[in-house]
Parts: sequence; C-alpha cells; structure tokens
Amino acid sequence: MPSEALRPVTVAIAGYGNIGRQVAVTLLERRARYAQVHGCDVRLVAVCGSRTGAVNAQGFAAASGIALEEGLTGCEFLAQIAPDVLIEAGPTDFATGGPALGYLTMQLGAGRDVVVVSKGALVHSGARLRELARARGASLRISGATAAALPTIDLIETGLRGAKVLALEGVFNATTNFLLNAMMARGCTFAEALGEAQAGGFAERDPSRDIEGWDTACKLTILANFGLDAGLVLEDVAVSGIGDVTPERVAGWKAQGQVPRLVGRLDCTGEAPVASVAVRTYPLDHAFAHIPGKTKALRVETDCMGEILTMGGGPEPLATSCAALKDFELVLEERAGRG
Ligand SMILES: NC(=O)c1ccc[n+]([C@@H]2O[C@H](COP(=O)([O-])OP(=O)(O)OC[C@H]3O[C@@H](n4cnc5c(N)ncnc54)[C@H](OP(=O)(O)O)[C@@H]3O)[C@@H](O)[C@H]2O)c1
Repeated sequence: MPSEALRPVTVAIAGYGNIGRQVAVTLLERRARYAQVHGCDVRLVAVCGSRTGAVNAQGFAAASGIALEEGLTGCEFLAQIAPDVLIEAGPTDFATGGPALGYLTMQLGAGRDVVVVSKGALVHSGARLRELARARGASLRISGATAAALPTIDLIETGLRGAKVLALEGVFNATTNFLLNAMMARGCTFAEALGEAQAGGFAERDPSRDIEGWDTACKLTILANFGLDAGLVLEDVAVSGIGDVTPERVAGWKAQGQVPRLVGRLDCTGEAPVASVAVRTYPLDHAFAHIPGKTKALRVETDCMGEILTMGGGPEPLATSCAALKDFELVLEERAGRG
C-alpha cells in the first residue's frame, strides 16, 4: 500500500521500564505489519518514565535512538502530544490508582484510545474508566493487566460470548506458581525457592504483593469486573497467600497426592459473585496439578459451553509486551470500524 494511503496513528508509551521499553522495540519492529494488515502508518511519538521522556513528532525510527531528557513526562506532557493511542506500562498502585489513573483519565477523557498494562488504576477506578471510555467512544484494552499473554479477558469477552460463566479459577501469578512447584518437586524451603526466583530475576525485590495474594486478587477483580460486570472492589475479595506454606504442609499434600496452587476463584452461581484468593489443592488427575514453572492457567465453568481450560506463558518482558501489542492491533481494528 502506498504510504500516502495509510492512516496515520500516533502512539505514546507512559511507563518506560522493562515492559514499556520492550513495547517500543516490538512496536517499531512491527510497523510494516501495521501498514500491511491494518493500513496504518504507526508512529511512536513519545515515551516517558517518572522523571524523563522523549518526543519526536515524526516518530522514532528505532527504540535504540530514543534519548530520554529530564522533565518530559506527566499528564500535561502527554496531553500536549495528544497521541491517538496511549500504551500505559507504569507502576501498579492499587491503593491510589498510581500515575496511570491520571494518564488514563486524561487520554480517555479526550476520547482517545488506551492499552493498559498496569493494574492499579483498573482496580481502583475501573468502573469510572470504563464509563469514561464508553461515554467518549474510546477503546480501553486491558489484556496486560489480566495475566497478559494468557488469554483471559479475550476468552471471556469473545470465546465464551453467549455462554453464562458459572465460575472461574485462575493461577494468575507466575512467581507463586514457581515457588510452590519448587517446594513440592524439589523440596526447597520457602526461603530457598524465593531466593532462586529473585536470583533468576522474575520475583520482585519486594515480592510481598505476589506472595500475599494481592497480585492475584487484582487480576481477579479486573477480570471479574471487565469481563463479567461483577462490580467487585478489592475489599470484596477474601485474600490469603502462600507465606504460611511450611515443609510440614508440603509433606502432607505429597502424602495425600495433592498439588497446591495459589488460586483466584470467582463463583457466579449465587445472588452476588463471591471472590477469593487462597491456596487450593488438586489431585494428580486434575489439570491444575500440572502447571509447570512460571506458567499461568485459567479454568472457566459455563452453562452451555462446558469447562474451558487455558494454560501458558512466555518469557518476560516480551510476552506481556506482545499481549499489549495484541490489544493495540484490536484498537487499530476498532479505530477502522469507527471510520
Ligand atoms: N514485568 C512483567 O513481567 C509484568 C507482567 C505483567 C504486568 N506487569 C505490569 O506492568 C507494569 C510495568 O512493569 P515493569 O516490569 O516494566 O516495571 P518497571 O520496570 O518498574 O517500569 C515501570 C516504569 O514506570 C515508570 N514510572 C513511574 N512513575 C511514573 C510516572 N509518574 N509517569 C510515567 N512513568 C512512570 C518508571 O519510571 P522510572 O524508570 O523513571 O522509574 C518505570 O519506567 C507494572 O504495573 C507491572 O505490574 C509487568
């Protein structure tokens, strides 16, 4: 397609850490695909972190050429740039919504599209942001915040459309799955398994949100609200983690032929949805007994489409970045549909 026939689409990235940088690299590598498949001339025009950022109205040619400057960040900075699509990959802060809340409110309020990776704003103000997006006719895509590469929100919104979800349960946190597997299969203590995960670079330096179950609770809340209109707040979720998994409990589970998982569960069969995060155990003939390493999984029970299981995961930060860019392509399709 000749370049003059392509529709220009400008993109900015807010939050330029592991995920944001990988999004920039892959987005720029895929420009030819966006032209060919979507008829779009995609230009990355700005990125920003907590104190620095960069802007190029013509679009950066390659992520390696992005030079960050002090002061180029914040809502006003991005409001001036007014990107067609904002990909948000900043820190998760579910107590306040974090910086994402301001960025998303600004972008959606102006009727422009967003792809969200962080969870805080979606947990804190998800209903308000959804309403804002609906009222302004803007796209709000959230795969990165709901277990990323594992199809969760897509499965519920698209794959199971027309079916009633009776219950779902998910292993949404890769770090805790790794820790439980290491304790069960290799006899590691909790501290040894955690040390290994931190040395491998996939457990946070402060892993408390993963271990105490809050990361799983956030993903469950977002999935329940965005996918099933559950109307949950985080306080509705009964949350416990894996911090009390002792060698004695591990030995007991082994003796009983049971495998523990940290599971976020939503039961939709009563008057109001009931949500919890806790260690649950599964017999060896259950699929959840066989979720390797840092893999995630989701099992959904429906009224008419049976029981659906999805399981997987890829190397980070590529997998999450590509989940965000899958959302970005869905946004390109939605934009084309709007004309
Ligand atoms: N890493 C994963 O595998 C993964 C998977 C799924 C979802 N997530 C979510 O994705 C998000 C990003 O993760 P990450 O691993 O990329 O984290 P990260 O490396 O810590 O990056 C976070 C970025 O946010 C920036 N930031 C902080 N305050 C900001 C502000 N006010 N405005 C703009 N940017 C700001 C930081 O800037 P500075 O560089 O200046 O500090 C940093 O660049 C998190 O919310 C995380 O929960 C991560």
